[in-house]
Amino acid sequence: MFSVKELVESSTMKSVPSNYICHKTPEDFMLNYETENIPTIDFLQLTSSNPNERSNAIQQLGDACRDWGFFMLINHDVPETLREKMVRVGQSFFDLSKEEKMEFAGEKILDPIRYGTSFNLMVDTALFWRDYLKCLVHPHLNAPSKPPGLRETFEEYSRKGKKVVEELLKGISLSLGLEENYIHKRMNVELGSQVLVINCYPPCPNPELVMGLPAHTDHGLLTLLQQNHLGGLQIQHNGKWIPINPLPKSFLINTGDHMEFLWQILTNGKYKSVIHRAVVNTKGTRISIGTAHGPNLDTIVGPAPELVGDDNPALYRAITYRDYILLQQNNELDKKTCLERIR
Ligand code: SIN
Ligand code: FE2
Repeated sequence: MFSVKELVESSTMKSVPSNYICHKTPEDFMLNYETENIPTIDFLQLTSSNPNERSNAIQQLGDACRDWGFFMLINHDVPETLREKMVRVGQSFFDLSKEEKMEFAGEKILDPIRYGTSFNLMVDTALFWRDYLKCLVHPHLNAPSKPPGLRETFEEYSRKGKKVVEELLKGISLSLGLEENYIHKRMNVELGSQVLVINCYPPCPNPELVMGLPAHTDHGLLTLLQQNHLGGLQIQHNGKWIPINPLPKSFLINTGDHMEFLWQILTNGKYKSVIHRAVVNTKGTRISIGTAHGPNLDTIVGPAPELVGDDNPALYRAITYRDYILLQQNNELDKKTCLERIR
């Protein structure tokens, strides 16, 4: 069976098939519900013309990246109607017939449009309870030609999301005392890649036995995430798993490996990309929409030559963003960043 949705719809399943059962440790079940300290960043303040308000928000943004690698973003510029429309068109893609969806299955990891299941069927030791549609939407828009309206909705959503991320990257540069376009220039953000992923996690009879997505960090700089009415995202903080309940209309934002990479280069590893995972539920289909923003695929990211010397050897080798993504996606997801692999 190629997809979890098909599996769920085709059978009167009482328990999950054995090839979906993940090995879990007692730590995997240890949750921390003390969520009141999760940082919230107000986009209106971050872009305010009042210098005090702006510098406060920049400080909070820097702290959130350093201490959590994660925050909720409120008062951003992406209208709720557009976010709701994204969930609807995303869901209706998965509602297409199997034949229609398979037109977009793609073959290679970096195919610009890819419908698939699990994480990477070539390397997964247990299957994950997830179907997905992944599209490279910037620098050029790639999106399935059906269902009607999907392409236009993806275009508007990714354009607006990119603007939000560009402001956040300016704020992060400033929070480190750099000029506001530092990350933009260094990571070639103008031509940067933006990968939009719609995740579909159908209801599951035994959520405790499976994973939607196991613990991992994202490639890239920042990922913007939204979901339908069902939760499932958990982030790791101080060694414990925190289930995330987003504030209404907020985006969940996490830092990616290239943020850690950049900061390792600049400040000796001040920021860490956050480890997160997605769990599933018995109640209904969870849809999440993640947009990963990274450098241009051909940008070589490596230690700054001026900072490397005999006393300060480079910790990572230089690698294009394209090769980094290939490396990450060709290996099992695991709790460590893929950065470990390029030491
Ligand atoms: C992801 O990590 O890419 C998706 C997380 C989620 O579905 O909440
Ligand atoms: Fe992720």
